Amino acid sequence: MAKVLLINGSPKEHGCTYTALKEIAETLTKEGVESEIYHIKNDTAGCRDCGYCAKKGRCSIKDDVNVLAERLDEFDAIVLGSPVYYAGPSGQVCAFADRFFYSNAARMAGKLGASVVSCRRGGASAAFDRLNKYFTICNMPLVPSQYWNQVHGFTPEDVRRDEEGLQTMRTLAQNMAWLLKCINAGRMAGTEKPVYEPHLWTHFIMPPSERCGCALHPACHLNPISQHGYEGDGFGQDIGLRGSREGNADFTPTDEGAVTPPSSGKRLTRRRF
Ligand SMILES: Cc1cc2nc3c(=O)[nH]c(=O)nc-3n(C[C@H](O)[C@H](O)[C@H](O)COP(=O)(O)O)c2cc1C
Repeated sequence: MAKVLLINGSPKEHGCTYTALKEIAETLTKEGVESEIYHIKNDTAGCRDCGYCAKKGRCSIKDDVNVLAERLDEFDAIVLGSPVYYAGPSGQVCAFADRFFYSNAARMAGKLGASVVSCRRGGASAAFDRLNKYFTICNMPLVPSQYWNQVHGFTPEDVRRDEEGLQTMRTLAQNMAWLLKCINAGRMAGTEKPVYEPHLWTHFIMPPSERCGCALHPACHLNPISQHGYEGDGFGQDIGLRGSREGNADFTPTDEGAVTPPSSGKRLTRRRF
């Protein structure tokens, strides 16, 4: 039987987001699809861009990200649920999803994805768009509904009175169950998942042979890669300019799983994002 992971990215375990996810879970059950609502902890840390996951296949921070990564093969679809905070998803869900999807991108391909947001009044579609980005960069087909997947409320009771919002959740679950069954039927009939080409990383304009990865210097592509290095003053790290997953994996995991950033003066190589 197919199984759907429903991630509750609200600090409230049984709040509005949970109420929307529960509506999805109940409809999935009726449609013969298993599901699990997973509440992520409030102290989820953000990505440190340490490169550990590329080398070790898991995140350097030991929390829910690795717990769910261990279980990823159980799930055929993932739903990200979040309250709307300042017209975006919660910090918790972004911290979680950045690391969850970054450290497991290849394993996500082919699973279905959907986002669900809960707001009191406004900003739902901006938050919804932001969450959908996790799926659409990972070869995960998005499941639609009759409206953008949002419920309205300040309390779970409000959400229970948002009839159209809850119907949107049920329709989403029906579509998800239907698509999961279609995919399974296709698999049984011999339709395989696509075999993708090796991923190209072009940084839009610079041919790979001329890139050093240093976006600090607009003209760095004019320098041959062999002559252009990174001064290592830490500035690049702040804006995500550290080396590629393969190239600069000079991190030092500690016993606790914390990671020491690369020492200064290291050369930059291509960043893969
Ligand atoms: C820090 C913060 C920011 C919020 N920003 C918004 C917002 O931009 N728009 C909105 O309609 N509601 C906003 N809200 C209200 C919540 O999104 C809303 O109550 C939501 O349904 C709570 O879901 P939950 O019970 O699952 O946490 C905000 C709440 C908090 C705590």
